[in-house]
Amino acid sequence: MKKNLYINTIGCQMNMYDSEQIATGLKALQYKMTPSIEKADLIIVNTCAIREKAEQKVFSFLGRLAGLKRKKPSLIIGVGGCVAQQEGAKILERVPYLDLVFGTNAIGRLPDIVKVIESKRCRIVDVEMSERIEELDFVKQGHDREKITAFVTIMQGCDNYCTYCVVPYVRGRETSRDPENIVQEIRCLVESGVREVTLLGQNVNSYGKKEGLCTFPELLRRISDTDGLLRLRFTTSHPKDLSEDLIFAFQGFEKLCNHMHLPIQSGSNRVLKSMNRKYTREIYLEKVDKLRQACPGISITSDIIVGFPGETKVDFEETLDLIKTVEFDGLFAFKYSDRPNAAAAQFANKISEQEKKERLQQVLDLQDHYTTKKNKGLEGSMQSVLVEGVSRKQNRMDKTSRHPDVQWTGRTTTNKIVNFNWSNGDIARNDMVPGQIVNVRILKAFSHSLWGEPVSPEPVPFDLRGDESYVA
Ligand code: 5AD
Ligand code: SF4
Repeated sequence: MKKNLYINTIGCQMNMYDSEQIATGLKALQYKMTPSIEKADLIIVNTCAIREKAEQKVFSFLGRLAGLKRKKPSLIIGVGGCVAQQEGAKILERVPYLDLVFGTNAIGRLPDIVKVIESKRCRIVDVEMSERIEELDFVKQGHDREKITAFVTIMQGCDNYCTYCVVPYVRGRETSRDPENIVQEIRCLVESGVREVTLLGQNVNSYGKKEGLCTFPELLRRISDTDGLLRLRFTTSHPKDLSEDLIFAFQGFEKLCNHMHLPIQSGSNRVLKSMNRKYTREIYLEKVDKLRQACPGISITSDIIVGFPGETKVDFEETLDLIKTVEFDGLFAFKYSDRPNAAAAQFANKISEQEKKERLQQVLDLQDHYTTKKNKGLEGSMQSVLVEGVSRKQNRMDKTSRHPDVQWTGRTTTNKIVNFNWSNGDIARNDMVPGQIVNVRILKAFSHSLWGEPVSPEPVPFDLRGDESYVA
């Protein structure tokens, strides 16, 4: 009998990947994803505790499920991911109608756990951590979906213990997957139509080091050899571990996209030390210079935390100054907030909420200026765009994706969103399908996307870094 599965993913890309694994694994028990929560037989909230206080979101979502459970007592409700790992059995105590709590390492065991709950109607908590990454059988079965882009986790956990961060506590020690399994998973994805893969890890630059597997640049080389794969991305890189080899990989591997997400967190050396980041602003700036020399036009994005305990106005000015010096393509900025277990939660000199809010706004305003400047600089340029599908707006208006005036969406190798349509009604042009790379001339820059016109209806050879990508 077919059953319906509804997953609510609260959090980061790694959680999105985990949710896909959950859905694939549960297929063995006849569960099929549904967009309708009312129709669900199993509801899973997959949570992240890293970027925001996901706890509140989780509990408010669970609160909304009380009525559903009353109407349909057979409904199974589970919480997974970082918040589950952190809170464990406490969540069961707090939510009497919750059936299941499973941690970040329990995804492989989930189908068995759900089977037990179905037959015995018991409540289960599984937050056991494992030393090694369990390879999931269902990863190798391939993915029957129509997506052009996919995430692939290459490592889990982290050993860096930045003082603000909860990851080492909820995702455990850093562990890398075997390169062969990664390559095989990517092959399956490409067979199912995926053309771009983003490799995920908390610190991809230290991939394989502990286990003595291959280096990260070597892994990139092996993945690049996959026929049919057009683009390769990765995130996140810790600046202290960004090696010369990786910098030069941008010159060597055609499929590797011109984008590096390199979180700086603060522009003040004093704050960086207190965060236990193990690099200085000078080292960071040197690496940015090297990246730009090796790969002109590379887009660089970053993360910044404002209002870290003890951050003075002078420290904060140094962060603003760093943003002006680097001119990032994009920035994710966060107000510092305490995380359970993380060392900084015990630090003195906490910054007031009001001050954090003001500092955050200043960072966002400053960055807006550079994002717009960078995007404007692309007006008139030609960009290679990997078409991902019809743009969301259009999707709602018109589901016939072959319609002459369909608006398409894709991204440049520098990870900027480009929307365009085949406007002249040329039927030949409607042969274009998601998964192709097309040349698009950029006509207009907006703050978070670009608008352009396709120049050739034919897929063009994949040109990663022609000088014309950026106009002066
Ligand atoms: N408070 C605010 N921001 C945080 N981040 C991680 N932990 C915290 C915290 N306790 C931010 C960092 C990291 C991004 C994923 O989330 O900038 O790079
Ligand atoms: Fe957290 Fe630091 Fe590890 Fe990144 S490197 S996951 S910020 S501890």
